[in-house]
Amino acid sequence: MAGGGMVSHGEVKHYTGKVTSFVIFSCMVAALGGLIFGYDLGISGGVTSMNVFLKKFFPNVYHKMMSDTGAGENQYCKFDSQLLTLFTSSLYLAGLVASFVASATTRAFGRKISMLVGGITFLAGSIINGAAMNVAMLIIGRLLLGVGVGFANQSVPVYLSEMAPANLRGALNIAFQLAITIGILIANLINYGTNKIEGGYGWRVSLALAGVPAIMMTIGAMCLPDTPNSLIERGHRDKAKAMLERIRGTTEVEEEFQDLVEASEAARQVENPWANIVQKKYRPQLSMAILIPFFQQLTGINVIMFYAPVLFKTLGFGDDASLMSAVITGVVNMVATFVSVATVDKYGRRFLFLEGGTQMLICQVAIGAILGMKFGVSGTGTLTKADSNWVLAMICIYVAAFAWSWGPLGWLVPSEIFSLEIRSAGQAITVSVNLFFTFIIGQVFLAALCHLKFGLFFFFAGFVAIMTTFIYFFLPETKNVPIEEMNLVWKKHWFWGRYIPDDHFGGVQMHEKKAVV
Ligand code: BGC
Repeated sequence: MAGGGMVSHGEVKHYTGKVTSFVIFSCMVAALGGLIFGYDLGISGGVTSMNVFLKKFFPNVYHKMMSDTGAGENQYCKFDSQLLTLFTSSLYLAGLVASFVASATTRAFGRKISMLVGGITFLAGSIINGAAMNVAMLIIGRLLLGVGVGFANQSVPVYLSEMAPANLRGALNIAFQLAITIGILIANLINYGTNKIEGGYGWRVSLALAGVPAIMMTIGAMCLPDTPNSLIERGHRDKAKAMLERIRGTTEVEEEFQDLVEASEAARQVENPWANIVQKKYRPQLSMAILIPFFQQLTGINVIMFYAPVLFKTLGFGDDASLMSAVITGVVNMVATFVSVATVDKYGRRFLFLEGGTQMLICQVAIGAILGMKFGVSGTGTLTKADSNWVLAMICIYVAAFAWSWGPLGWLVPSEIFSLEIRSAGQAITVSVNLFFTFIIGQVFLAALCHLKFGLFFFFAGFVAIMTTFIYFFLPETKNVPIEEMNLVWKKHWFWGRYIPDDHFGGVQMHEKKAVV
């Protein structure tokens, strides 16, 4: 079969060792990093639709909104405002740049320090935002939040993938995505509440509360141990061995430890991971580092996450109904993530990608068709109650599919496929591509809806078809493969195999050599 089932038993090792409560606890704490990202994804849409907030910081937008009569208006173009979306998206640009700085930090000082830096900068950003007196303070706050997100997203997924035993890596890594979805949901609920605060300071509460997950992450990062991989990478072999014994709950870790040391020795020969990652032998990893986050954003998920209330309003749901529908999609997003936790290490990454992709595709085509039939190209018309319910149902089924496929796997797969010498750099590329396209979607969605109309849903459906086909042919299965053994998976792939030289110095080849000797 193309791409799948490339690793047969007996070739990839299974280390001895238990799943300890220590490793589970460490991973849960680290996953808190996802909360700050999720809170941010969820909070800005609601805040920027609060009238008091707009009046104070974006009076032009506010006046334009107030003067729109709405009569005979094109439904697709109701909410098109670039200035406001730029404010929202600025965070993602800052995060994008920060992830590269985080890469160097993570490599030189360890994953834990990067998480700590992420937590502290995010905290500073939330304080400045909550206290904002002018647009400058808002923007500075946003930039700091972005730096926090860049550091967290660069270090947390790598941390999780390195700590976890191979057979549970998927489930533990997905705790990060679970925290993202919880963050989004909490943010939506908080906006729902603060919007009702009389006195016009609700937006401050929403923005300042970002400090809560930031404090949790900062304290969490202080208490966390560093990963054995990172300790070895920085020359602390004894500590690394002790840590490995502790997280695996056994003293019989020699084999895994040797593999980590070998991987680290290979990594040491690499002075500049950036020059390295563009070499031919890393072409599969580099391609995935770029394409997976690109495709993840091109599923169109953030159209729902950022603009759910706006979208539902556009579709003719009332004010409260729109917010409520957004909360419903938030709950679906969180709950469906558990499906992924439960199945990813059993059925594998490819199965979830292919199933989720097909389900998303069907829903998007259905939504596009309903809107096309009801609003046509002119954008005038209304949805009946039954139509609206169909659209909401389709959106929920679509969100569920994303939540057990591209959502978690968009972070899991990149973090587990890089060999140690390019891991920090590779993850920085993944984060920056992700945030860049999050920015692009955030920036152009309202205008795109206005121009492409219902065709926008077909546009995303087209991308989902492409990415699902891509996964089918080009992504090998990585479930249960020890992280420092991943080279073997690429070597055996029908397409990528040609890029991996036979004498590649990664951990795997060394074992094979040993086995031969
Ligand atoms: C994506 C975000 C998205 C979120 C939704 C994450 O994996 O990176 O862009 O908003 O999932 O749950």
